[in-house]
Formats: sequence, structure tokens, C-alpha cells
Amino acid sequence: MMTKRCRHASLVSTALLVVLAAVQSPRVVVSSFSPPSNSVVDRRQTSKRASSLRDIVESLTTSPSSHDVTIHDEANKTTNPSAAGTAIASSSSSDSILESADPEIHRLITLEDKRQHTGLELIASENFASAAVREALGSCLTNKYSEGQVGKRYYGGNEYIDDIETLCMDRALALYNLNPNEWGVNVQPYSGSPANFATYTALLQPHDRIMGLDLPSGGHLTHGFRTPKRKVSATSVYFESLPYIVNPTTGYIDYDDMQSRANMFMPQLLIAGGSAYCREWNYERMRQIANSVGALLMVDMAHISGLVAGNVAQSPFEYADVVTSTTHKTLRGPRSGMIFAKSEYMERINRAVFPMLQGGPHNHQIAALAVALREAATPEFKIYASNVVRNSRALGDALIHRGYTLVTGGTDNHIVLWNVRSNDDNGMTGSKVERILELASMTANKNSIPGDKSAINPGGVRLGTPALTSRGLGIIDFEYVAELLHRGYQLAVKVQNVAAAAANKNEERNIKVSLTVFETTLKENDDLMMELTILKKDVESFASTFDMPGS
Ligand SMILES: Cc1ncc(COP(=O)(O)O)c(C=O)c1O
Repeated sequence: MMTKRCRHASLVSTALLVVLAAVQSPRVVVSSFSPPSNSVVDRRQTSKRASSLRDIVESLTTSPSSHDVTIHDEANKTTNPSAAGTAIASSSSSDSILESADPEIHRLITLEDKRQHTGLELIASENFASAAVREALGSCLTNKYSEGQVGKRYYGGNEYIDDIETLCMDRALALYNLNPNEWGVNVQPYSGSPANFATYTALLQPHDRIMGLDLPSGGHLTHGFRTPKRKVSATSVYFESLPYIVNPTTGYIDYDDMQSRANMFMPQLLIAGGSAYCREWNYERMRQIANSVGALLMVDMAHISGLVAGNVAQSPFEYADVVTSTTHKTLRGPRSGMIFAKSEYMERINRAVFPMLQGGPHNHQIAALAVALREAATPEFKIYASNVVRNSRALGDALIHRGYTLVTGGTDNHIVLWNVRSNDDNGMTGSKVERILELASMTANKNSIPGDKSAINPGGVRLGTPALTSRGLGIIDFEYVAELLHRGYQLAVKVQNVAAAAANKNEERNIKVSLTVFETTLKENDDLMMELTILKKDVESFASTFDMPGS
């Protein structure tokens, strides 16, 4: 195995060879697709975004360690801040109290802060909360106990806490245009999963039947996921679940199939909503299906609550009995949860949240949520939500333009479900693409797609635009992001082919290559590592030019 010093020397020399080759030959494998030049951010920061080969080689030559890519080297990951690439202002200033109180945690937060700044965050369920939201989260409210409901607490000293929770509830109802005589809301759930379990606890008896979208079809664990061998989610331990699925060919939810499953299974609760479904929901049809079997209709709008608030996704409130949500995805708030319910169910919901399942509310979260709800009611947020969807469509189109297939052929929301198996039968998997992207500072996650034979080895990658849209990326920027993803994919294919060829000298295709072998192959091949290093540098140069909300 090569020493690190050897690798740096080798990387630098390979970089110089690439430069020489670029000068001499038009065939050199370096993307000709440049970062967009006409976005607002770009006009502001053109010089910062430049990432020519000369710059790359210069940085490799002068500071080789700053662009080295480390695989499975956790120690190095946390002790080498320079690995993040282009220098950016850290949110943790030198006069930080935390820095002197706990230098280890301070250092790790600083590194995570830098990772968020310099990388491209494409995880569909993540976002960047505003500075105001973060200030409320870090406030004195974390000190206070307030078990109970507004005006009915088990502790004294809650006059301001009551006002904060009331304000939060009022803003939540107002944001979704709900009449307080018809709807109520509980803002105490610690997050989305507790919100869902509290809803089941409130509305169902143990072993009642629920039907939600199957996890491999894009549903969420908490909607009752289980395998033949294991009850994976607690929901499937305490309730009986039978999922409905997407059509394996089209990727769209099959509502006729849902109706026939409901006829047989007769659920007490039908659940709409998911974590990896990129199309609009037909709530009206689901209401009919629920009515036909006497079920309640719950909509888990965790992923799209910001899009509903911004009027770019259909509101579920016209059809649902109960609506749950996380607050940290498209809604761009703190990590928290909400349960909206028709007034007749509110008492049961409140009791399920406290005292049945939770203790003291997280008042800092509730205040931060109130701030986020106020932000979400502004015209600026409506523009943001609309941009999230426009960017998602642009990203999807740009991938299609490069020959890729998307589940359902496109998107209606913030999610693009990228079929990484489809180009040809090259043994590519979501895990391998996810890993290469991660090493190149692009964060996304592997995801099941229709037709997958194994949930452990899925054939898709889920991409999302909420976080980067919060940083100001526009359509042109997302077209460049697609190019960076494409380069990552091409590199993954090269690694796969080298690994497959090594496994079987006669055949380069259809050889099973494990993720471990895939990574070892990459690590031990200087040319592939060089390509990865250049890609990572390009990603970080690009990402670092965009502002970061909350810093
Ligand atoms: C649809 C849906 N519901 C619920 C949850 C659970 O949220 P949390 O992770 O906050 O518990 C998620 C999280 O990804 C989700 O996508």
C-alpha cells in the first residue's frame, strides 16, 4: 500500500500530466461544462468560483493535503480541517465560549460547519435553517419544564412559555389557512416519528389496521414497515400494516390497486405521504378509498409541508382528518413535529402526545418553530418554495439530457429519484454512486426504486433541492450540479469496471463488485483518485461561493 506522502507526490505528478495532456490533446478527460456564469451569485463572485486546471494543480502543488480524498479514515476526517478545501468563514468565531469550554466539541462543530459550507447538500429531507431559527433554538428556553398544555401545566413559571406555544399554534393554523373552530394543532411532538406514533396512539386501538405507502415504494418507516422476517418499525409491532405500492413500471401510485387492497384489508387508517415520492398525491381519491372502507385519512406531509405553505403543492387539509409533519425539511424550521387534526380528534391527540408518549415539551424547538412559521408566511418564502420545485425540475431535466432515467420520468416536487441502474447493465448501485458523491463532497442518499430486487442494495439515488435553493442556487446552477453528478457517476462506472476487470480478467461487465471492493479499488488506483480529487475540488470551489443561511 502506498504511503500518504507517496500518494501526494503521485497525485501532484498525475495532475501535472493532466495539465500537459490538456495542452497537447483535446481528448483529455476533463469536463468542458463550466460553472454557470450568469446567475446572480455568479455575477457577484465570479473570481471566487474559478476552478481552472491551473488553480487545481497550483493548490495540489502548494498544499497537497488540502485536496486529498480520504476513504474510511475517520481520524483524519476529524483532525484535518483543511480537508474541506476552499477556506470559508466559520460560524464559530475565535471568541467562542464553547471553544474554551469544550474544545473537542467546538472543533467537531466547526468541521461540520465547514462541511456544510463547502459541500453540495442534496439530501431531500435536509435544509438550512435561518439565523433567527437557530438563535431561538439556542436560547434559555431549553432550561424550562412545562409538561401539559397551555394554561394547564404541571410546573410553575410558564407564563412566557404559554405565550410562545400559543403563538406557535396560531401561526401553524394560519399558515395553512385553517379555521381554528374546525382544526387544532399540537406543536409538542419532538419530531416526525413521534408525531406519527402519537397519532396512531390517539386514533387507533392496538392491532388496528393501517395502510401506508410501502417503504421501497417511497413510503416512510413509521407508516408500518416490516419485512417477512422482522417488524422493523414499532408501528408494525403495535398495529397491523399492509402497504400499498407504486406501479412497478410507471413509478406512480396505483390507486386502483390501493382500492382493492383496502377492500380486502379494511384498514382503520389510510395514510398518504412519503419520503421518496416525487409526484403529487391524489388526496381526493384517497378520501374516497378511506370512506369506502370506513377508514380515517391521515396525510404525513413531512416532506412537502414547505411546498404546501408556499402554494406549490396541493393542500391536504380539504380531504384529511389528520395531518402530521416534520418541520425541518422543506418548511426550513428546527427539527420538530406537528400534528394537525379536526377539532373532534384534538383531545385524543393532545393526550397521546402528553402524558401517553412524551414528557416536557422542547420549548426551544417550539419557539424556533414559531419563528420558522412566521418566515414561511412571507412572500419571500413563497418564492423560495416555487424555486425549490423549479430547481428540482431543472435538475431532473439536466440528468435526463445526459441520458439518465428518473423514476416517473420527472418530478412535481423537490425530489428527483435518479435510477442509477438504468443506463446499461453495468452493475452500478445506489450505494456506490452515493459513496463516490460523498467522497466528492456531494451529499445524497441511496434509495429503493421500483423493480429493485433488494432493499439493501437499491438501484436509485434520491436527490433534493430544498437545501441548495436556500443557499441561492438557481436553475443554471442546478444544471451545473447535474454535470457534477454526471462526472461522479462516470467515475463510479470507471471504478466499477476496473474492479470487475480485476475480478474476472475476461469479462468487464456483470461481475458482482461489493462496496468494499469498490472502495478498495478506488483507493488503490491513482488515476481514479486523481479524477476524484479534481471533482471534489470543483464541487467545493462551486459550493463555497454560495452564502449559507444561519451563519
Ligand atoms: C414522510 C416522513 N414522515 C416522518 C418522518 C420522520 O421524521 P423524523 O426523522 O423527524 O422522526 C420522515 C423523515 O424523514 C418522513 O420523511
